[in-house]
Amino acid sequence: MSTDKLDKSLEQELSSLAAEGRTKSPERVIEAYIPPKDEKGPRYRLADSSQNFMRFNSNAYLSLSNHPELIRAADAATRNFGVGPGAVRFIDGTFVHHVRLEERIARFVNKPGAKIFNSAYTANCGLALSISSKKTHWIGDQLNHNSIIRAMRISNVPSANKGIFAHNDMADLKRCLDAVGSDMERVVVVFDGIFSMRGDCAPINEIVDICKSYEDRFKDGVITVVDDSHGIGAFGDTGRGTPEFCNAWPDVVVGTFGKAFGVNGGFVAGSQTLVEAVRQKADTYIYTNPLSVADCAAAVKAIDICDSSQGKDLLAHLKEQTARFRQGLDRLGMESIAGPHPVVPLMVRDTARTHDLVTYLYDNGVLVVGLTFPVVPKGDETIRFQINACHTPKDIDQVLGLLAEFA
Ligand SMILES: Cc1ncc(COP(=O)(O)O)c(C=O)c1O
Repeated sequence: MSTDKLDKSLEQELSSLAAEGRTKSPERVIEAYIPPKDEKGPRYRLADSSQNFMRFNSNAYLSLSNHPELIRAADAATRNFGVGPGAVRFIDGTFVHHVRLEERIARFVNKPGAKIFNSAYTANCGLALSISSKKTHWIGDQLNHNSIIRAMRISNVPSANKGIFAHNDMADLKRCLDAVGSDMERVVVVFDGIFSMRGDCAPINEIVDICKSYEDRFKDGVITVVDDSHGIGAFGDTGRGTPEFCNAWPDVVVGTFGKAFGVNGGFVAGSQTLVEAVRQKADTYIYTNPLSVADCAAAVKAIDICDSSQGKDLLAHLKEQTARFRQGLDRLGMESIAGPHPVVPLMVRDTARTHDLVTYLYDNGVLVVGLTFPVVPKGDETIRFQINACHTPKDIDQVLGLLAEFA
């Protein structure tokens, strides 16, 4: 037996993907982390390159991944309990660090309870498996993250029970709600807090108000769910994310520990009953080993730091550097999408120019993400810059200088 015949078919499929421009480029490998020094943030060494790079493509907005307190917490947990849980949660794979992280994140987002997952991706899938029924209608923003779209698919939501509203268009959300069949018992409205390709945020206060006005039409009401993976830790006055920024809290909050908090893992936070339903029904929680205790201990430490004066300083620095970068783009006459989030898209609006600029930045030691068709519509070609708290004014000015030279 061999996979020769399968490989042939897969090669054809991969060629088709390549012809459609849908394949990912080869993965670069980071070989060394060079700590910050001389008013410069950290640098990274890549395999096959002798130069040092700045990362302007990292989601680790608070730059906590290399924080000594997180490393110490992970190290202590590992020394006490080892590197892996040995089983799934319900077969004695639950350690005190899992429970502590669940309590800590629930408190952080001000919900009665939370369940943690290996990632926000599996958290979305687990939530959908837990709350979907034959009489559940799902409504989502057109630009929702792939994990939400996948979540709806794996929970077998038929297309008749789904509505998609145009990005952040509240009239269209109402249209979707009006279209829900009277036989439906439960409506779930789900949206990203921050849209990661654009850095803009959902108008959560408006969404929550609109959903409330439809609440009485359905036996189980209208449940609002925000996936605030890019907002939690990085956005709002105290890092509580987009709900804090909008001053409106959806019923359920999904998020990740793998972005602003700099670690790994995801969570679903909501009522105690919802959390118990997740524990009983979410296959992506039940049938898979949990995060390591090292991840959990580091994530708890990251949340503690976010809630401390140190965290406030980091957040303030992040906001200042984001504003510095955005103002620099304005001065250069470069187009972006306005907003305070550290995802700063540079609208290039041309495929070849986007590729050329990404290459130019790479050649000059800056890692960014270029987004071209079919990831974004033709004409919306973008370079996504992500500001992190480790960036110094010198780093920001260096990138702005390169952009000025390129222009
Ligand atoms: C909205 C949203 N949800 C989920 C994820 C996935 O997060 P994780 O890496 O924890 O699975 C992302 C990451 O890009 C995201 O933007």
